[in-house]
Amino acid sequence: MKTKMHRTVLGAAALSAFAFAAPVLADEDAELIVNGDLSIVTKTAAPAHLSDSLDEILSGWRFRNDDTQVMQMDDFDNPGMLGADVGLDQFAAVMGSEGKSCADCHDGPESLSTVRATYPKWNEAAGEVRTMQMQINDCLTNQMGAEAEKYDSAKMLNFEAMLAVAARGTPVNVAIDGPAQSVWETGKELYYTRFGQLELSCANCHEDNYGNMIRADHLSQGQVNGFPTYRLKNAKLNGIQSRFKGCVRDTRAETFNPGSPEFIALELYVASRGNGLSVEGPSVRN
Ligand code: HEC
Ligand code: HEC
Repeated sequence: MKTKMHRTVLGAAALSAFAFAAPVLADEDAELIVNGDLSIVTKTAAPAHLSDSLDEILSGWRFRNDDTQVMQMDDFDNPGMLGADVGLDQFAAVMGSEGKSCADCHDGPESLSTVRATYPKWNEAAGEVRTMQMQINDCLTNQMGAEAEKYDSAKMLNFEAMLAVAARGTPVNVAIDGPAQSVWETGKELYYTRFGQLELSCANCHEDNYGNMIRADHLSQGQVNGFPTYRLKNAKLNGIQSRFKGCVRDTRAETFNPGSPEFIALELYVASRGNGLSVEGPSVRN
């Protein structure tokens, strides 16, 4: 039950382009248990910083239809797990001029099991907020003498899927205070900025209208705890910032690129809106 009023204040252009309708599908009360034994928190109390706008936070899994939900309940049916397996192979493979593999310095993905839940994260030595991909690129280039990977490349998403599996079930807990705070504030501002001809902000869809239908899609809160996400639509793993790009493009706006300072800040902010949900990737979405 949503107890807070949903403010449906949309630009005139948005109203003519989209009609938000009451939901018809999806069992919002379903519970996600993976492989019959790993309980995933897909619904919990909103973190304190959201107390003015949301009472509870919900994983996108709750908004998908039964068939899509079921695919994520068993690793054999979850096509995203193939990426995690390839990620493991990549982890053991020698890359770059130093003749090193990730495994030469990191015991295994288990030794990195806190990463998925806590990134984006402030890196003191570099003096910047780093996403997982920025950190992996730092290891590739500065530790291994290898080429940097493009943002959201298949290789990067395989690494991310592997790190998500290592962290699966642990609560998302990104830090928003201390030195990361100003980046977080920038991300928050972007989240509430209306973009494009449709004059829609992330919040107009994912905060004011989640649970409603938009065209044929059941709108979720746009959480990122499930990333990387295997989308049935394009049959591959998808990254967080590429998803942001698609959403901004849908408002008919010029968009930022994955890896841009704007999307790094937005990723930190959106991740913090999911503090308390479980890491659930690789997830399955339509
Ligand atoms: C030559 C050693 C070396 C290699 C090879 C290496 N790393 Fe790292 N990695 C480091 C060091 C050093 C850190 C920083 C540790 C710290 O500050 O906590 C780090 C940090 C990380 C972190 C963040 C850990 C955290 O707790 O925040 C991740 C994720 C990571 N590496 C992934 C990888 C991956 C994936 C590869 C292979 C592509 C790789 N690393 C290869 C040395 C290495
Ligand atoms: C016009 C409405 C609209 C706007 C504006 C919008 N999105 Fe979305 N977004 C969608 C739809 C539709 C989906 C697919 C269904 C769902 O998961 O909500 C989606 C999906 C997502 C997802 C995937 C969620 C998951 O569980 O896989 C994320 C993350 C997301 N959006 C973030 C954002 C961010 C950040 C912004 C602002 C830059 C934004 N969206 C703006 C409509 C919108």
